[in-house]
Amino acid sequence: MASQVSMSVNLGGLAMKNPVTVASGTFASGREYNDFVPVERLGAVTTKGVSLNGWEGNASPRIAETPAGMLNSIGLQNPGVEALKRKDLAWLEGRDVPVIVNVSGHSFDEYVQVIESLDEDDRVSAYEVNISCPNVDSGGMTFGVHAPSVEKVVGMCRAATKKPMIVKLSPNVTDVVEIAKAAEAAGADALSLINTLLGMAVDARTRKPVLARVVGGLSGPAVKPVALRMVWQVHGAVDVPILGMGGISSGIDAVEFMLAGATAVAVGTANFANPHATAEVIDGIRAYCLEQGVADVNELIGGLQC
Ligand SMILES: Cc1cc2nc3c(=O)[nH]c(=O)nc-3n(C[C@H](O)[C@H](O)[C@H](O)COP(=O)(O)O)c2cc1C
Repeated sequence: MASQVSMSVNLGGLAMKNPVTVASGTFASGREYNDFVPVERLGAVTTKGVSLNGWEGNASPRIAETPAGMLNSIGLQNPGVEALKRKDLAWLEGRDVPVIVNVSGHSFDEYVQVIESLDEDDRVSAYEVNISCPNVDSGGMTFGVHAPSVEKVVGMCRAATKKPMIVKLSPNVTDVVEIAKAAEAAGADALSLINTLLGMAVDARTRKPVLARVVGGLSGPAVKPVALRMVWQVHGAVDVPILGMGGISSGIDAVEFMLAGATAVAVGTANFANPHATAEVIDGIRAYCLEQGVADVNELIGGLQC
């Protein structure tokens, strides 16, 4: 039986001390959670999506609880890339944790401009290019659901940086493998999945939609089986590593994603219910490995026996 577990992984060129990061948009940049989980404990911090000049986001209400999950229609509200540098990256500087900046845009060019404005900055270790948000009308998911536009935007981002580039895929597609292959062909170093699933909630008493935008993105435990299925399918079809997410709230959830093919995992909605969730996931993966005699967490990746 192993007495120690090697927890480090490599996600497409990004060295992580353990396989756990946070899902973009659920952890800000870590400052508010730092009293619960010091960011240094994480394998990486993933920031909230950033655009060039900031966006106001969608009208409220834009959050709704659902059975075993939540809907959000935030719409990539963010103060823009200069504010990210001034506030978030300044706070993260010097902390012993790699920073993945989640990049969004209304146009192909805007994605590139965000990357260009960050690329000289040593505080940025990697990018997660979000081509999959269901809450914006231009850019966001519209780029992420057609293979030709995926190839184009990912190729343009690839040309703008040599840093590790993770491309975040949408589950709101017929064939996630086709999109994954397009992103890989265009130069993605890793793929992350899943973003939220398009859904809606109805208030029967008022006969109105709960969200002002009517539709929003479903996340939390409710989406976990869909996410696992997509991670498994994509792992079988591409050579680049996968950052798996969707409903992870425990070490065992994370292990399931790694067995399905994820090299690393992200904890999202679980942070809202339990601010210790990330630490518990890290400890839970280690405990599983000790119990199972797994000396190196990399042994889990794709270990599903079908
Ligand atoms: C409130 C909220 C905001 C989010 N914002 C972003 C974002 O800015 N960029 C992004 O790529 N994904 C965003 N997501 C999607 C999450 O990163 C993640 O892909 C999704 O929620 C599934 O993981 P989970 O079930 O663990 O939350 C957001 C999700 C939530 C719930």
